[in-house]
Amino acid sequence: MHNDIKEVLISQEEIANKCKELGEQLTREYDGKFPLAIGVLKGAMPFMSDILRYTETYLEMDFMDVSSYGKGMRSSGEVKIVKDLDTKVEGRDLLIIEDIIDSGLTLRYLVDLFKYRKANSVKIVTLLDKPAGRTADIKADLIGFEVPNEFVVGYGLDYQEKYRNLPYIGVLKPEVYGGE
Ligand code: XMP
Ligand code: MG
Repeated sequence: MHNDIKEVLISQEEIANKCKELGEQLTREYDGKFPLAIGVLKGAMPFMSDILRYTETYLEMDFMDVSSYGKGMRSSGEVKIVKDLDTKVEGRDLLIIEDIIDSGLTLRYLVDLFKYRKANSVKIVTLLDKPAGRTADIKADLIGFEVPNEFVVGYGLDYQEKYRNLPYIGVLKPEVYGGE
């Protein structure tokens, strides 16, 4: 285990099994369709890669980078588009792929934006759901794991851009972020 990690919440093996299961579910969900899979950078990158390798439909991939966090640990409530899609979403079936839903502000914003752009359907798959953090009215269609109200890192999730490369989801030691 990495020296900065207090506890592993979800192991590499649990993540791998879940990704296969979710990917297979998406195959059934989008059977006969040609969805546009939208990864929310940067956190969703490993998750997107791991679920879509088990999704056996035609699909297209694109990426969106939005920020509501800056470098801190709390949502600012403001969502900024850092990188927009290259693909037109009008009439498309969209699958938004996220690492974690906390306040839900990021996804609320994205779903509204894609509806405004006249997407045919918008679904959400998230690796982690932190229901205790929710302030916006948003629910994922597919969820990997529920996590407690703690700041988690690894498998795409960062603290100050570090730990995205850990193969598991863990909780940081408080001394790493100057906590109690
Ligand atoms: P909201 O609050 O808009 O947040 O649902 C979504 C984005 O916030 C980040 N986030 C976290 N990142 N550990 C992280 O490394 C966490 O516990 C955490 N909670 C929220 C994340 O970037 C997510 O896409
Ligand atoms: Mg994110």
